[in-house]
Amino acid sequence: MTPGATPDGERPVVVVTRRLPGTVEDALAARFEARFNTLDDPFEPAVLEDAMREADALLCTVTDRLTARLLDVAKRRVRVVANFGVGVNNIDLAAARAAGVTVTNTPDVLTDDTADLAMALLLAVARRVGEGERLVRADAWPGWTPTQLLGTRVTGKVLGIVGYGRIGRAVARRAHFGFGMRILHHSRRPHAAAPGDPPAEFRARLEDLLPECDALTLHCPATSETRHLIDERALARLRPTAFLVNTARGDVVDEAALVAALRDGRIAGAGLDVYEREPRLAAGLRELANVVLLPHLGSATTETRTAMGLRALANLEAFFDGREPPDRVA
Ligand code: DGY
Repeated sequence: MTPGATPDGERPVVVVTRRLPGTVEDALAARFEARFNTLDDPFEPAVLEDAMREADALLCTVTDRLTARLLDVAKRRVRVVANFGVGVNNIDLAAARAAGVTVTNTPDVLTDDTADLAMALLLAVARRVGEGERLVRADAWPGWTPTQLLGTRVTGKVLGIVGYGRIGRAVARRAHFGFGMRILHHSRRPHAAAPGDPPAEFRARLEDLLPECDALTLHCPATSETRHLIDERALARLRPTAFLVNTARGDVVDEAALVAALRDGRIAGAGLDVYEREPRLAAGLRELANVVLLPHLGSATTETRTAMGLRALANLEAFFDGREPPDRVA
């Protein structure tokens, strides 16, 4: 038997935990015995467990938590998990390895759209786009006023980037070549510059980077090492005029500490796309005027979500054809 084939030679059963763009669902159904979650509600753990008992493969998303316990159940039949997303913090990778379950993700295809959204959040919070929009919608705009809703210039300022992988660098290109920003970055280790990268200065210690930034944008993965990387101490090292942007994962920021820093004016504002306990927000966050809040939209374009689905499909096809899945992470 080839490594990926089902023992009985049937089409592999793939449980797809959320609705996906139509072209992706059609392509999945053409190749596999695809079982779709027609209600599109996030699966409760017990429902996910039941679904996994009958699946050869799972196509899951950030709303599915694949714990060690679930993977232990899954391993009786599930052989591969294709995550629809580049971040895999929803999956216990060590447990997947121990259970012999292959895990893949969807890198590259979402880089540009996520970087675009990080820039959108930076511009929105610095230029008070949300406040202005709310004013107009509330029919409370008194008309043009020289001192109304004055924001902060982004062009020419200093941008600190935490995590200098694909998305971090895509943000650096936009910020430097589009907005003339000086780029500083911090990651676990320095990265060699790639063609097309702007000049960027590496800071080995996060605490050295923070006081230098006019804005800080997060692009590191969520791991045990990066959990609450931006905590009360880190926030205290930012300038009171600085903005924080997070399109990475909510866990990277201590949200309660962020709310306190924003409320006390210890930083100027934040643009957030991700949260510690999605879809719930930390107490007090929603009430703050100096935050722009988005519902995890980083990769949310038709082009990217379709490409992510097709990439997950390509990983499943490779696995069941007995080839190495191109985006294997475990
Ligand atoms: C990603 O790809 O990680 C997005 O945040 C969706 O999960």
